[in-house]
Amino acid sequence: MSNKAIITSALPYANGEIHLGHVASTYLPADITTRYLKLKGVEAYYICASDDFGTPILLQAEREKKSPEEYVKFWNKRDYDDFAAFGIKFDFFYRTSSPENVEFVQNVFKKLNKNNHIYEKEIVQFYCQFDKKFLPDRYVIGTCPHCKAEDQYSDLCEKCGRVPEEIENPRCSICKNPPIKEKTKHYFFKLTNFVENLNEWLENSPHLQKDVKKYVQNWIQDGLVDWDITRDITWGVTIPLEDAKDQVFYGWFDNHLAYISSTIKFLKDKGLDGKAFWNLADIYHFIGKDIVYHHYLFLPAMRIGIEKEYKLPDYIPTRGHLMLQSKKISKSRNWYIGLRDFLTLYPADYLRFYLALITPYSQDDLNFDWDEFAARINSELIGNLGNFVNRALGFTQKSFAGVVPSKDEFDDIDKEAEDKIKNLSYSVGELLAQNNIDRALKKILEFSANFNQYFQHKEPWKNGKGTNNCVYLSVNAARSIAIALFPFLPESAEKIWEQLNLKDKVYEQKWDSISELGIKPNHKLGAISPLFKKVEESEIKSYKAKLGA
Ligand code: 2FM
Ligand code: ZN
Repeated sequence: MSNKAIITSALPYANGEIHLGHVASTYLPADITTRYLKLKGVEAYYICASDDFGTPILLQAEREKKSPEEYVKFWNKRDYDDFAAFGIKFDFFYRTSSPENVEFVQNVFKKLNKNNHIYEKEIVQFYCQFDKKFLPDRYVIGTCPHCKAEDQYSDLCEKCGRVPEEIENPRCSICKNPPIKEKTKHYFFKLTNFVENLNEWLENSPHLQKDVKKYVQNWIQDGLVDWDITRDITWGVTIPLEDAKDQVFYGWFDNHLAYISSTIKFLKDKGLDGKAFWNLADIYHFIGKDIVYHHYLFLPAMRIGIEKEYKLPDYIPTRGHLMLQSKKISKSRNWYIGLRDFLTLYPADYLRFYLALITPYSQDDLNFDWDEFAARINSELIGNLGNFVNRALGFTQKSFAGVVPSKDEFDDIDKEAEDKIKNLSYSVGELLAQNNIDRALKKILEFSANFNQYFQHKEPWKNGKGTNNCVYLSVNAARSIAIALFPFLPESAEKIWEQLNLKDKVYEQKWDSISELGIKPNHKLGAISPLFKKVEESEIKSYKAKLGA
């Protein structure tokens, strides 16, 4: 592990509100990982940006009678605010339309061109006579030539995850008429130049997910196709060539470069050399499984094409899609829950808890289910963890006037409990380092369940022998929970920290100190109150009805 890290998550398109589907697979896992790395003492920065360019955004801005600049500015701020309310703490949130990114993209293009990875070709492009426009990407729908799935966008088959070379049975997605073809000159990125390098990179990247690697290797084996990086629209990074003055780059050519350009801008403002930092750091790109092709092929090939001036990713944690009540999330069918709306119902930590618990490190889809949400919050977050912390601290308050007693000699059961504290930083940390956030959170729950049993077994309310040890160890266990919980539930961790009345902030602690008995006898606790409030069945009933579930 390097002592530096750059963490990114898929850049949100600046054209709509953030919903639960977005946060489950990418932003929350990336946020948890960054918070963990920071506690580990790594100089880690979580960098993100709004993805501003592309036809859909331009058209939507036109529909709303706004300039595209004004339109993306609105969504950039709105998305940032929603993420912040959910506790997603970016170190920097920029935009792909920043002057720094535009310049960076143009320079990368020039270098790729110089290195013979770009060529020009006249192509025939779909054109709709009714709407009077070229129809790039998602403005054409049809049948995927690979898997024959119908109603797929021409730039991505959502069924098999490939980028179709040419969609079959094309139709204009606006008016549904078959488009005609018109000639236009486009620039292509020679993805086919990189077969050997990509294979070598995949083979020598021990931290990439095995299953994802395998099917990317299969794609390469089946044959790659060069990539059209030009669009005949006005909203995008302009192509820095005389002949292409009226054309712009395809959004997927420029957007991932904002991972780098935003990092450089952020570090430059801190007086640091961004390129040097990038190349010394562990690089993480958190994504959902729908954009594997772009992150495992286009992105590394482009970096290789500029002679690895910026190192390739070490980790591309790739996760599945969130379903809602077992059905695919769809904004157009109004089958989704906006993040902002959710946060008017429950605290961010409830959602972070539930999503972290159900999100494995795999491409399997996950499912948000209102009843399961209520059950897991009530039984695991409140019944187990919240109950232990409140019980331990409340008892100390009531029976010891909030003052931690001095310990006596430990018996075997105390020693076992002490060992659990000593092992916690490693057992949770190891899982977090391997990206297993769900299993790491379960370890913390297992720890608090063990301490609940310990407390129950020791019966300190009888004030017999061993009461002091029980209180002393339980208060210390609550301290360990606070630090270990911070990456997952930052607000609740801070609340526990306040109730413990400890110095500094919980996020200023060292991860490894989880395993210390950091609270000494005579320490006085702060005011104690329950951390969480139960989720009521009646509430869940009404949210389900509102959704139509
Ligand atoms: O699929 C999306 O939502 C894209 N906006 C993700 C872009 S990630 C990129 F920048 F690499
Ligand atoms: Zn049309």
